[in-house]
Amino acid sequence: MSDESSPHRTAAVIPAAGRGIRLGPGAPKALRTLGGTPMLVHAVRAMAASRAVSLVVVVAPPDDAGAVKLLLDEHSLPTRTDYLVVPGGETRQESVRLGVEALPDDITTVLVHDAARPLVPVDTVDAVVDAVRAGAPAVVPALPLADTVKEVEPGEKDQPEPVVATPERARLRAVQTPQGFDRDTLVRAHLTVPLAGQGATDDAGLVEQLGAPVVVVPGHEEAFKVTRPLDLVLAEAVLARRRANDGF
Ligand code: CTP
Ligand code: MG
Repeated sequence: MSDESSPHRTAAVIPAAGRGIRLGPGAPKALRTLGGTPMLVHAVRAMAASRAVSLVVVVAPPDDAGAVKLLLDEHSLPTRTDYLVVPGGETRQESVRLGVEALPDDITTVLVHDAARPLVPVDTVDAVVDAVRAGAPAVVPALPLADTVKEVEPGEKDQPEPVVATPERARLRAVQTPQGFDRDTLVRAHLTVPLAGQGATDDAGLVEQLGAPVVVVPGHEEAFKVTRPLDLVLAEAVLARRRANDGF
């Protein structure tokens, strides 16, 4: 079981520097509220809820790092966890690298968790930590897909796209966060794999490019990413259900 008496120290890096373009106009996505509380605060609490996590590093929108520090001070967070805020970069990959660079030397296990997945249950966090501590250099929570997936040749906007292939659905997984890493493996991945295009949206993908093994553990449907407006409706409904259940 994960516990804080372990000789390993675990930190969670939370990339929260994105703008949330797909969510529509408004504040940076991580600062938008769910049930009256900023999404980022939910995500920080989700990481700090794990007894294994002794430090949370928030990678903030570069112009809002000061505001994010104030926000964390204002909200009650578990006191056995330390918190650090660093400014982020242009891409998620860059933001994660900046967060990892801020880690103190004694951290041996690193979780990388999207601020945009505010409702991940603590059991999923613990399962990822436990798999890393059991020796896996990279661990990803993931779920089987409901939809069949087609690979297409992307064409002009609004034009029909030719289908290239239909991968066998039973072999596919949709990956979530927190993704967990042996610290040295994650650092090597971020140092070795160059930033291409919009950058990697998945840290485990960088580790795969190193040739290191990545394993999947069961994810959770409440670890979904808030990406589009409809996801906010779902997130509010999940929070309401949790509150109702807590009442009994
Ligand atoms: N992220 C980041 N730095 C960036 C871009 C993204 O830290 N330059 C973070 C986001 O804040 C989010 C996570 O990476 O917590 C996953 O990214 P995504 O869901 O794509 O969020 P956004 O990039 O903010 O959204 P969009 O792509 O719709 O603009
Ligand atoms: Mg994005």
